[in-house]
Amino acid sequence: MQHFLTTEHWSKPDLQQILDFAKDLKQSPIQPLLKNKSIALLFFNPSLRTRTSFEIGIEQLGGHAVVLQPGKDAWPIEFELGSVMDGEAEEHVKEVAQVLSSYCDLIAIRAFPKFVDWQKDKLDTLLNSFAQFASVPVINMETITHPCQELAHIMTLQEKLGDLQGKKYVLTWTYHPKPLNTAVANSALMIASKFGMDVTLLCPTPDYVLDEHYMQSAQNNCNQNHQNLTVTHNIEEAYTGAEIVYAKSWGALPYFGQWEKEKIIRDQYKHFIVDEKKMAMTNQGLFSHCLPLRRNVKATDAVMDADYCVAIQEAENRLHVQKSLMNSLVNHHSS
Ligand code: CP
Repeated sequence: MQHFLTTEHWSKPDLQQILDFAKDLKQSPIQPLLKNKSIALLFFNPSLRTRTSFEIGIEQLGGHAVVLQPGKDAWPIEFELGSVMDGEAEEHVKEVAQVLSSYCDLIAIRAFPKFVDWQKDKLDTLLNSFAQFASVPVINMETITHPCQELAHIMTLQEKLGDLQGKKYVLTWTYHPKPLNTAVANSALMIASKFGMDVTLLCPTPDYVLDEHYMQSAQNNCNQNHQNLTVTHNIEEAYTGAEIVYAKSWGALPYFGQWEKEKIIRDQYKHFIVDEKKMAMTNQGLFSHCLPLRRNVKATDAVMDADYCVAIQEAENRLHVQKSLMNSLVNHHSS
């Protein structure tokens, strides 16, 4: 049985197959590919795009979505094996995953890190527990990576630029008043490198370099594709000649759980905002962001409203890629 937990273990041709069918679904959105299928969508954190695009996508394919928010409208869940469950949790993931598997054909999970101990969060225990105990495929709707966003991002770039091999791709850290998840940044590095781009990570200081696992994964992809992975703290160097600028904010991992200390550093880098002056250094570059985005904090109004901003197109493509993905996982699983 195949899960979609991270794109790391998916080959480029297999991902391209999902993307190619997503292009068909964009042209012919209503197809009965999930007729009589039920899908559980578990949200441990808020969402606008992910929830809406999954629910509507399932409906467009003739399936049925059940949205659950454990701890709110469903019982709080325990994930630790062998624990004495005398706290808040009313049931264990072992039962939850098996019960949902008996009702549903697919389970999708959104569960952000707890932001206290990265060594714990990086194990992605909640998602991996569902994958371990479920007997149906599991989709990651954002934990410590965001693979559905990766698919939508690449679909959008292929629509705009065609072949992505060798394109100069810049992932830039941007300021945000709160320390955010590294998931989209991890994902951006992995997918841009997998699809053969020349990748630059622009961040304020070495503290903002991403987890070594994702840096190494991106480096391996770049080596395989004969491309470079460059880390720089120099804005001009990064933007010059860029063909794609992807922005995201994240908290510095060495300060994980000590966010007041990190804020003192982060507050010095508000000038990492994506603005017209920076975009003018690019090679007529595209700009995108996974959204939600705080205007005039992460990117200016002028950038967000420019023709080169493809963030809305990327958000729309979430719908098409997820439908293609669900079809692939459910119908492969049933056959
Ligand atoms: N990009 C994204 O996943 O958006 P939501 O958090 O609104 O789902």
